[in-house]
Amino acid sequence: MLQTPRGTHDVLGMDAQLFGRVEAVFRQQALSFGFREIRTPCFEFAHVFERSVGEGSEVAKQMYVFKDKGGRLLALRPEGTAACVRAYLQHSLHKSEPYVKWFYVGPMFRYEKPQKGRERQFHQLGAEVFGLHLPEIDVELMQLLVRTIRAVSGSQGKLLVNSVGCRQCRPPYEELLVRRVAPQKEELCADCQRRLKTAPLRVFDCKNRFCQALFSTLPVVLDHLCGECRAYHDRTLQLLTRYELPHEVHPRLVRGLDYYTHITFELVAEDGEAPALGGGGRYDDLVELLGGPAVPAAGFAAGVERIVLWLQASGAKQEEELDAVLLPLSQAQVEEAFALAYQLRATGLRVDVDPRPTGVGSRTKRAAGQAFFGLFLGEEEARAKEVTVKDFRRGQQRRLPISEVATFLSQTRE
Ligand code: HAM
Repeated sequence: MLQTPRGTHDVLGMDAQLFGRVEAVFRQQALSFGFREIRTPCFEFAHVFERSVGEGSEVAKQMYVFKDKGGRLLALRPEGTAACVRAYLQHSLHKSEPYVKWFYVGPMFRYEKPQKGRERQFHQLGAEVFGLHLPEIDVELMQLLVRTIRAVSGSQGKLLVNSVGCRQCRPPYEELLVRRVAPQKEELCADCQRRLKTAPLRVFDCKNRFCQALFSTLPVVLDHLCGECRAYHDRTLQLLTRYELPHEVHPRLVRGLDYYTHITFELVAEDGEAPALGGGGRYDDLVELLGGPAVPAAGFAAGVERIVLWLQASGAKQEEELDAVLLPLSQAQVEEAFALAYQLRATGLRVDVDPRPTGVGSRTKRAAGQAFFGLFLGEEEARAKEVTVKDFRRGQQRRLPISEVATFLSQTRE
């Protein structure tokens, strides 16, 4: 049997409905914060991502890199940030716009070991701001993420916040880290030995028990911030309180990408067991690293699959997608049913016709799972130019003239 490749899946049924709901809510929230949509290609020149996410980072190792027929080295996008920076520079927006606020929704690709909430093709919703270095912006980004989650689920998750310092204060802290670990270096896992050479902060992400025990005793970057980073961090926390965004300072929070400076954050489900729903932070050096001027920036992304899994675990229910299903009771009413559907759709109602010549019982059951109303058209109804309207939620039934059906459905549905 034909199947999807490992780590990918079809989104259908209730999943598709929840996907649509999450994306629509995010879109509406992002627009209300003044973000505009950007759609970047699903693949870019590989170096756009290689230079951004950090050599040796997990994300760099997981990239789908390939040569096209013209011999160009391309990569399926593993994330949206680097692509946005490329677009920002390619369109010279640093020259024409004082600042830019973008949001995006789309598929990303990482060659991961597939497991629950970890796919090889997954979808991110994300937002990026270029040209502003202000704690208010970091907090707006966190607000947008939390509000989206709250609007789809009624719950807001747990917001974890940290600062990873800047070009000034991180290098001396990393040197300190390397010095402190040096006596036990040989006992560390191979990954951590490598991390100490390339990106020492990432050792806090290690799942190895010995490494974790050792690193839990080490100084954290939060205690070694320069004055500017400290002030930025403190002001961000003040604003989070002002805007009633419950949060926890998490000094060992490290992100899987190397481009962060200052504030980083993650949103996790309240029970804290599942992997993060979303994360992001400030990346003031990345535009310059990719060949542009020094433009500050910040953003976040969240995984749609993870949000959907979380919604399902919290008991999200399928919503009726249709206002009505039309059920012709015999072949003679099929044409009339399609004509009525045409009229009802013209008034903005969501309507389907089930024209199958099967039993009315099974068709009614199926319709009740999809729509608020069933509209039955039999011979008697046709003669009287009427329809039998069944309100599935209230279990009530009545006959109505065809000309009154649209108004009745619109009013009663509310
Ligand atoms: P990230 O933490 O790598 O950050 O990914 C963001 C979110 O994407 C994760 O929290 C998770 O929900 C989802 N995600 C990541 N990998 C997978 C996967 N294999 N399967 C399912 N979901 C996944 C970034 O990508 C940054 N670009 C975020 C950002 C934007 N930072 C600044 N601006």
